[in-house]
Amino acid sequence: MPSTNAEFAYVRDLVKNAVAIALGPEREYLMEARLAPIAEQEGFTCVTELVRSLTGKTSTDLHWKVIEAMTTNETSFFRDIKPFEALRNKVLPQLIQNREKERQVSVWCGACSTGQEPYSLSIMLREHFPVLQNWKIKILATDISNDVLRKAQSGRYTQLEVNRGLPAQLLIKHFRKEGTEWQISDAIRNMVEFRRVNLIGTWPPMPNVDIVLLRNVLIYFPVETKTQILRNMRRILRPDSYLFMGTAETTVNLQVQYDPESYQTVTYYRPSPN
Ligand SMILES: C[S@@+](CC[C@H](N)C(=O)[O-])C[C@H]1O[C@@H](n2cnc3c(N)ncnc32)[C@H](O)[C@@H]1O
Repeated sequence: MPSTNAEFAYVRDLVKNAVAIALGPEREYLMEARLAPIAEQEGFTCVTELVRSLTGKTSTDLHWKVIEAMTTNETSFFRDIKPFEALRNKVLPQLIQNREKERQVSVWCGACSTGQEPYSLSIMLREHFPVLQNWKIKILATDISNDVLRKAQSGRYTQLEVNRGLPAQLLIKHFRKEGTEWQISDAIRNMVEFRRVNLIGTWPPMPNVDIVLLRNVLIYFPVETKTQILRNMRRILRPDSYLFMGTAETTVNLQVQYDPESYQTVTYYRPSPN
């Protein structure tokens, strides 16, 4: 039985309440494709039956599977490249100078998807900042979706995935081929700690951070949610820290206290002084 507007409305509200993502009407066509595999796995004859089984119940594992399936996990190694150039050529050299005494740097990737983003950063630190070998480097990578976190933690990627953004010499150096897939080295994998955090929920205690990558996730949220997340973020950012958002994301029109700064064509943000 094909799913109806009512089922889409139920799923849209479920996703909005759980993770604040607004699914526009253009996403209705996606529901069937994304939920059909779950319906099959769970023994339902169709998506309609799956969605109907959820209504009237409070949050179960199946509700979360559906929510996760409706979110967008698009990512790639060194995505958009320019922010990584800004990190390499401007932000990290400056930060390393500022942290010379304490010799530690803390990074948070707030919507890390399947891990390409935090691993790109780890690879860059290894490649270009040997001085950090003896520093304490903490890279925390979080996401709402258990599925993407499982994959991120495994550090295993298909040929197609490594072809997207990862230069061949870095692939050869930091991955090994296992069957048809590529396994990231333990040295890089162990630099990243993965955890589940819902950006719109109550955050677990977070360390103060020097760099936040919060890229290509705020775009899905309404203005109030973006504002709240950026305000919460400012509380854990150190005064001389850096926030990177996606190329289509900005603090313009949000009541938040950040100052934009640029490196070539990239804009990143610093918490405004109090
Ligand atoms: C498009 S991906 C971006 C991945 C990566 N930051 C990048 O730019 O390539 C968006 C990610 O945000 C996650 N996400 C969506 N809503 C979230 C929420 N409320 N809390 C935490 N993560 C969320 C999704 O699961 C997805 O993995």
